Amino acid sequence: MHNALTIALTGGIGSGKSTLGRMLVEQGAALIDTDAIAHELTAAGGAAIGALRAEFGDEAIGPDGALDRCAVRARVFADPRSRQRLEALLHPMIWQRAGQLAGALAATAAYLVFDVPLLTESATRAQDFDRVLVVDCPVALQVARVVRRGSLDRAEVEAIVAAQASREQRLALADDVVFNGESLEALAQRALRLHSLYASLASGRRAV
Ligand SMILES: Nc1ncnc2c1ncn2[C@@H]1O[C@H](COP(=O)(O)OP(=O)(O)OP(=O)(O)O)[C@@H](O)[C@H]1O
Ligand SMILES: [Mg+2]
Repeated sequence: MHNALTIALTGGIGSGKSTLGRMLVEQGAALIDTDAIAHELTAAGGAAIGALRAEFGDEAIGPDGALDRCAVRARVFADPRSRQRLEALLHPMIWQRAGQLAGALAATAAYLVFDVPLLTESATRAQDFDRVLVVDCPVALQVARVVRRGSLDRAEVEAIVAAQASREQRLALADDVVFNGESLEALAQRALRLHSLYASLASGRRAV
């Protein structure tokens, strides 16, 4: 167990979570990326592959031995029960790994930032963190950024946005909100202010 200050960083697809997370790391935070953990678990040879094959059949695993993300995305979009089964399998593994990383990083980092894209969709998780930080921006910007990033087309991004929680639902969960509808420089300024807040909360906590 550790006693570090924990921040859940969330926001819709393309809102800027990873970008803001990196900015906080530059200031001394440790970042635990639950999306990267999910990728690791579902890559070829990943710890979840055996259980995924058992639960969803060979068609869920690609010829390279990794989770076939396209096939599974299509399946969980079409069938909410498949989504629940997938989450019931993956989420405990993701949180176990996140907890291990947190334990290893807590001693040296000013505070711990967890990038949790779907926090609002499983909102009881919010209670596990000292603060919830929401990156907010207009939906049109989210879509434009993700389309520009390359791997998804506009219709796919719009479908993902529609399936995610709304801006209002996310904001209702927030202790801290960062607006990321302007330049990267503006975001960096906001990251500095947030860092001061978290560093002071973390040092107050160590003093008690
Ligand atoms: N203020 C900004 N101005 C211009 N581009 C930005 C800004 N913020 C983020 N971006 C770009 O938009 C894209 C999405 O940002 P980022 O990857 O940080 O979002 P994310 O919330 O982590 O997305 P995902 O949900 O897919 O993980 C990236 O290519 C990033 O460089
Ligand atoms: Mg990201």
